[in-house]
Amino acid sequence: MRTPIIAGNWKMNKTIEETKEFIAALKDFSLENVDAVLCVPYTSLGILREQLNNKIKIGSQNIHWEENGAFTGEISPLMLKELGVEYAIIGHSERREMFGETDETVNRRVHAAFKHGITPIVCVGEKLEEREAGKTKDVVKEQTEKAIANLSSEQVKKLVVAYEPIWAIGTGKTSSAEDANEVIGYIRKVIANQYDSQVANEVRIQYGGSVKPENIRSFLSQPEIDGALVGGASLKPESFMALVEGAK
Ligand code: G3H
Repeated sequence: MRTPIIAGNWKMNKTIEETKEFIAALKDFSLENVDAVLCVPYTSLGILREQLNNKIKIGSQNIHWEENGAFTGEISPLMLKELGVEYAIIGHSERREMFGETDETVNRRVHAAFKHGITPIVCVGEKLEEREAGKTKDVVKEQTEKAIANLSSEQVKKLVVAYEPIWAIGTGKTSSAEDANEVIGYIRKVIANQYDSQVANEVRIQYGGSVKPENIRSFLSQPEIDGALVGGASLKPESFMALVEGAK
């Protein structure tokens, strides 16, 4: 009942020229029963909007809570909307760890995204030491509850959450599919407690962390896992297409 969603996160990769090469190499593949999103650097959004002639959606990697003002280096929801952005990654661990993103700023960005009709992809996940200390569930509970505080039920239903254990990002190590399924099922329970189970059952929750075409099916075959947020393996067109294919 939940349509799987594959989101590529290019992070700080690809110039405009490289983006054009990526688009040119994409085949006209079917997106039946799966949603596909490319979350690219701001500089690549315009060319994606001009040249992406299929149904892949456009996403950003951040979004500010104000529409304009003295926020050097930030990006306004209005600017993203103008470029055709439909999804925004919010609270990625790299932004939390390196750029001072907090649960409170994540929540403000989530509200701003919904206000402007952009679907948030909210990232949560534990560090290695937190996992080893048995705190995975505590960490994802707190991050999830704070990220979605004060949203309406209708907004929460449209939300995408990405569970990304930080130790699995870009390392080649993955959580086991069963383990990811358990944590994602727990995140769904947290949402159900905060809203209700009907709302929680509509939220799409992805797994992220070293997902590749070779392992995507093992994750997507789990009942709680509704897709993947993919970094490295989304950078090559053939690999991105294989990920989307693997999610069907
Ligand atoms: O946003 C994507 C994640 O950080 C995962 O990155 O697929 O390169 O491990 P990765």
